[in-house]
Amino acid sequence: MPRKSSFNVAVIGAGAIGHDHIRSFQQHPAARVTALAEVSPERGREAADAYNIPELVTDYRVLLKRADIDVISIALPNYLHASVALDALKAGKHVMVDKPMATNARDAAKLVATAKQKKLLLMVGQNARFTPEVQTARELVTQGVLGEVYHAKTAWTRRSGIPRIGSWFTQTKFAGGGCTYDIGVHALDRCLFLLGDFEPVAVSGQTFSKFGHRGLGEGQWGKSEIAAGKPFDVDDLSVALIKFKSGRTVLLEASWAAHQSQADYNGTQLFGTEAGLSLPPLQLFRPGKNGYVTESVNVATNLANANRMVHFIDCLLGNAKPYVQPEQSLAVQKILDGIYLSAKTGKEVRIK
Ligand SMILES: NC(=O)c1ccc[n+]([C@@H]2O[C@H](COP(=O)([O-])OP(=O)(O)OC[C@H]3O[C@@H](n4cnc5c(N)ncnc54)[C@H](O)[C@@H]3O)[C@@H](O)[C@H]2O)c1
Repeated sequence: MPRKSSFNVAVIGAGAIGHDHIRSFQQHPAARVTALAEVSPERGREAADAYNIPELVTDYRVLLKRADIDVISIALPNYLHASVALDALKAGKHVMVDKPMATNARDAAKLVATAKQKKLLLMVGQNARFTPEVQTARELVTQGVLGEVYHAKTAWTRRSGIPRIGSWFTQTKFAGGGCTYDIGVHALDRCLFLLGDFEPVAVSGQTFSKFGHRGLGEGQWGKSEIAAGKPFDVDDLSVALIKFKSGRTVLLEASWAAHQSQADYNGTQLFGTEAGLSLPPLQLFRPGKNGYVTESVNVATNLANANRMVHFIDCLLGNAKPYVQPEQSLAVQKILDGIYLSAKTGKEVRIK
């Protein structure tokens, strides 16, 4: 079958990140956002008008029946990611789903298998991989500048950054988990991508919930709903030690709220036999002629893969290889599951 030269995209969910999905696809000349599904008619109308989207529906299933729609882009609360993605894949659509891929590895594995069986593109919107610093750092790792990278520390920790306390974000039944699923997933995915290692074998983790249920630690991502008496029953800090088949280790930290020195830290450090690396800003640490040196690294510009949606369309056009592969996202999901299970059981969890 000849490759298509343009793609019709339907975005599902017009909340905070749905707008970004729409704008990002609209950056690609070969993509057209032709439809939007949103359960809130007002929110849907506002976005459809703002971005000139011709069709607006409240039930996404209507769009899955349409032969002219090629791509479904999912910007929904976490608990809907897997079911909507599975429906879309079964209907023959390529799928971009925002992170986390699912709320458990069993569902994530189903998505991976279905996409493979149907030969459809499935990608998780791990935008942290697409920054110039991360792409440049990955190049340094693959060139061997760091030698053997045997350990890494990665974190996204906020002092006061709980998204909308009381909303779906802070309820297990809708979000699956708290800061671990919301921002830990970015720090973890970025680190594994930098290492090029998606073969975890064990995880030991702990989760805490110390601020949100007291109405403390509110962030900037929309308005809190705590006054409405909605619960906060997820983690607002988590830590994990992850071991890999290679023998490598990764330390992960995530927090939405914590008494810490920086308001917001979102970075990764790699430890190699020849040099260390940290970002952001991108720096190398290694012995020089006159002692130990810290080197600033120029980050690449004019990146082909600067935006996850633009990249997704480039992949469909055959102009790029998927930068985020579904099997990699499944490995990340298994680690996230492992952190929660380890926290619950107090034991190290083996990952298969
Ligand atoms: N990649 C990133 O950096 C990033 C950043 C923020 C959020 N996210 C992810 O994006 C997703 C959405 O987050 P958000 O902040 O936009 O949430 P949000 O609550 O602002 O938006 C979700 C939207 O989905 C709509 N919706 C709910 N059920 C629906 C259904 N069945 N059909 C159609 N519409 C429905 C809601 O009405 C709402 O407008 C989450 O999974 C979140 O983790 C990713």
